[in-house]
Formats: sequence, structure tokens, C-alpha cells
Amino acid sequence: MSDLKLLESQTLQAISAAADEAALENVRIGALGKKGSISSLLATLGKMAPDERRVRGADINLLKEHVVEALTQRKSDLKAAALDQRLRAETIDISLPSREAPFNLGRVHPITQVMDELTEIFADMGFSVAEGPDIESDDYNFTKLNFPPGHPAREMHDTFFLQPDSGGERKLLRTHTSPVQVRTMLTQKPPIRVICPGRTYRCDSDQTHTPMFHQVEGLVIDKSAHMGHLKWVLEEFCKAFFEVPSVNMRFRPSFFPFTEPSMEVDIQCRRDGHDIRFGEGSDWLEILGCGMVHPNVLRNCGLDPDDLQGFAWGMGIDRIAMLKYGMTDLRPFFEADVRWLNHYGFRPLDFPTLAGGLSG
Ligand code: DAH
Repeated sequence: MSDLKLLESQTLQAISAAADEAALENVRIGALGKKGSISSLLATLGKMAPDERRVRGADINLLKEHVVEALTQRKSDLKAAALDQRLRAETIDISLPSREAPFNLGRVHPITQVMDELTEIFADMGFSVAEGPDIESDDYNFTKLNFPPGHPAREMHDTFFLQPDSGGERKLLRTHTSPVQVRTMLTQKPPIRVICPGRTYRCDSDQTHTPMFHQVEGLVIDKSAHMGHLKWVLEEFCKAFFEVPSVNMRFRPSFFPFTEPSMEVDIQCRRDGHDIRFGEGSDWLEILGCGMVHPNVLRNCGLDPDDLQGFAWGMGIDRIAMLKYGMTDLRPFFEADVRWLNHYGFRPLDFPTLAGGLSG
């Protein structure tokens, strides 16, 4: 085999063996680059006699032509193969459901949602939010609220008491949000218009009771607040909260040490299996307790009952959440089961607003 034929076969072999464009470029440089094998051969032509140059020159150029052709072909084959591979690797199945953005994956707990909803409703009526601690004194939880020492109502609350502290004071986990009324009256100047949502505790557990639960307290104190106002506020709240044009409410006489008169309030509804409708039907569901603030409570909080009066109410948040969103058991609320949360939770950016809709 002539030297040119040998070079051609070696170069063509190297071209077909090049696995990618970078390897192919190396082969090209090895053959046709400044110091490449074919370029060096072409450089020898200048020193040849014209006859020899004609023959040898034609042979070398033919060799070069074959090599260039093979390079071009291999390059386009490699390009096509690379593209094929990318297309295969990067195919997107557009029929698959899109993946949720991370911020959208979490869920807002129904209790948080309902607290946001009711805060939105009462804020619209001019109420601000007041807070108090979960660990409360016996004085604020009971005594200032007109529970006489040894009164059976204290027992009815199934209170969790803490160990007495060094001063002998026995604190407790607040059994209701009513002590926040006391804290508010002791620190704010009337007129007062607050709601107090928060955690409350009683030693109780079954399908509709958990040892920790949530209440929202409401308190209005001024010179003339009366039962008509109380009724209006609660009716407006129920309509807005249950997102219905009208509700029927029943005010039944009741007893709480801190209100006089005291009432329990039921709302009318109709249940169809899991469905519940308000403003119709023959069922009455108790949703809250309320009344006119007892003069003793006003006095205990440094207010003059001859000058000021007002009303208050206390409502179970968990209970109205269950009613509105159709849960039948309260216990899973606090079991942190992601499947339950995914089912009953709310999307993080669906803030409840009166204008945009409370429950999205
Ligand atoms: N604190 C009461 C309870 O937990 C609820 C309640 C009833 C609160 C009447 C009030 C009220 O403010 O006026 O059972």
C-alpha cells in the first residue's frame, strides 16, 4: 500500500472511530491542521520538480478531498446522534399533571383559616384583637369573673391546675377566653370593642371535645351597649361566617357567673347526610354563650357599672369550623396527619377576605 493510501485509511478509520465532535476535531487537526499529516505532505510539494509535483499534488489533493468529505459526513452524523439523544433524554410528557410550586404545597389548618375568617368579619365591624396568656391566674380565670370561691361552676370547667409556685399561687391552663375580657378591661379605656381568639384547656376528650380547644371571646363596653346590639352583632357574624343571606337564631336563657342576663344561642339548620344548610330546617345547634356583662365583673375590673355597661360572648372555634367545613370528629384536628390536612386544609395564598370570599 502506498504511503498515501495508508495515511488515508488510517485517517478515515480515526474519523469513523471519533465518538463525539471534540474527538473528531482532534482528528481534523491531526490531518489538516497547520502541522497535520496532510498539510505536511502538501508542504513538501514546493520543493518538487514540476512533473513530480503534478502527479504527487493530484494524489495528495485527492486524499485531502476524501478526508474532508469523511469529516463533514461524520460531523453531521455525530450532530444528529447528539440531538437524538437529547430529545430522548429531555422529552416532557405534557399529559402529566404539573408539579405544585413548593410555597403551594403546605396547607393552612382549618382552625387558622376560621380564626382569620372571624377576625376579618369582626374587624369589619370595628373590633380589634386582644390576647392573653394560656397559663392564667385563678383570679383572672374565675374570681374576677364573679365565680365565688367553691362555686360549682369552677368544677364544671374540668380545670388543669399547675403545681403551686414558690409564693403558693396555683396557676391554671385557662378554661375559657373570658380572662382576656378581664385583662382588657383592666388595661384599656372604654369604649372597648375587642375579640379574643385563642387556645383553651379542659380535661375532656371525646368525638367533639379535646383537652386543648379554641374559643373566641367578644366584649363591648361603653355607656349604652345593649342586648339589641349584641343580637345584631351575632346575627351579622353568623351570616357572614356561614356565607348565607339569612340565619335564624334562638336565644335561650342560661347561666354564666359573669353575665346577667345570660343566654345560649342556637342557629337553625337542616342536615342532609354530610350536608348542612343554615337558615332552614328543624335542627337547632348551639354555637355560643353570651349576655350582658355582670356589674360585679365591671367592678372587679375597676369600671363603674352605673356609668358603663356592655355585652360579651364566647364561642367555640373548633365547633363552628366543624359545622362550616363538615368535619364530624374533632380529634383529627390535632393529630397532624398530613392526609387530613391536605383534605381539609386551605391553600396558603387563599386569604379570607370579605370582598374576595371567606372560604375561597
Ligand atoms: N366562657 C364561657 C364558656 O367557656 C363562654 C361564654 C359565655 C363567654 C358567655 C362569654 C359569655 O363572654 O358572655 O363556657
